[in-house]
Amino acid sequence: MLNWDDPLAKFKQPAGAAANTDVERYARAAAAAEVLATLEPTTGTAEKATPVAAAPAPAAPAPAAPEQAGATGLEQVEFGARRLAVDDKQMINCRADLNQLVPFKYKWAWQKYLNACANHWMPQEINMTADIALWKSRDGLTDDERMIIKRNLGFFSTADSLVANNLVLAVYRLITNPECRQYLLRQAFEEALHTHAYQYCVESLGLDEAEIFNMYREIPAVHDKASWAMRFTESLGDPTFRTGTPEADQRLLRDLIAFYVVFEGIFFYVGFVQILSMGRRNKMTGVAEQFQYILRDESMHMNFGIDVINQIKVENPHLWTEDFQREIISLIREAIEFEISYARDTMPRGILGLNANMFEEYLQYIANRRCAQIGLAEQYPGASNPFPWMSEIIDLKKEKNFFETRVTEYQTGGALSWD
Ligand SMILES: [Fe+2]
Ligand SMILES: [Fe+2]
Repeated sequence: MLNWDDPLAKFKQPAGAAANTDVERYARAAAAAEVLATLEPTTGTAEKATPVAAAPAPAAPAPAAPEQAGATGLEQVEFGARRLAVDDKQMINCRADLNQLVPFKYKWAWQKYLNACANHWMPQEINMTADIALWKSRDGLTDDERMIIKRNLGFFSTADSLVANNLVLAVYRLITNPECRQYLLRQAFEEALHTHAYQYCVESLGLDEAEIFNMYREIPAVHDKASWAMRFTESLGDPTFRTGTPEADQRLLRDLIAFYVVFEGIFFYVGFVQILSMGRRNKMTGVAEQFQYILRDESMHMNFGIDVINQIKVENPHLWTEDFQREIISLIREAIEFEISYARDTMPRGILGLNANMFEEYLQYIANRRCAQIGLAEQYPGASNPFPWMSEIIDLKKEKNFFETRVTEYQTGGALSWD
């Protein structure tokens, strides 16, 4: 089980968790190296973007005509064609063969894929026994605490499906780089795991599944966030949409920011803080552990998305106009208002040592970080982090706990019995 008050112990290898193969050793070393590389001494958070690859010599933008937009990977195989060179690769509108993973151009994307695989987990591995007993006990939880659990399961259960659908049906075909697509495939599976985890919580606690899964159509604060995001997947999800013009490429860039920076990078964070706060107080520890694994995955998704966004900017500087930056800033500010409303709706009274005003401060702090990560000015000067423990969880704690609870024979992990 998790111990929420453990001191941080960087990369301590617990007994019995030694790597058995070169692949495992490599994967663990890679995971540790990435965390170390991204640590920031002042905040300790791992939310730092990877330096982007050098830009090609700035050339006058020569966008392809829409009908010449990027390859899909489903083109006819050209027998005897010239071999792929690393410089043939680009993030969007690439016409080179997309079925050849190597040579790598974006080594960070491959590294993130390896790190994600090294973090593999399954919802059924988490012990829900204490949660079930607490949920069923008459006075184990207050009504406010029950509402937080249900509201967040309601928001996340459909939000992760939305992210998965956006990835598979919209984003994937427009990102024309094989190593990034490799990560997207892994991310898509992780989104499936997240939806699975929420369903597993609903089933374990015996909640009304129709109530939970319909919240995004019935509860305004949940609905507002989901419908905000829909605006940024509709156009890309249109099968006739093509990149290759500045307008279309900006639309893709804007929609990537909406999903990776806002949806996964802002709209998830009130819920994460609320559920993890319950875990820190030894309440609903199974649900909290599910969310802790999910938070770790989401932190990686967001960092990957930010690297993709910054790489597109480097390769297509003509997209990052003053007008476009203003549009993005206004999207982020609008999203912060929605997330503040969500905090007030889910927490009308202060509980767990938290109140909605603290969330307002936290969201402004997060917004500043997100802006900085994509090269925009901070929008809320002086905002500070009222939940520094969140940074610790994102960075390191799960690395340690994950390996302590990891099963060696992973193939059987999904069928573990906790009795
Ligand atoms: Fe997710
Ligand atoms: Fe995600």
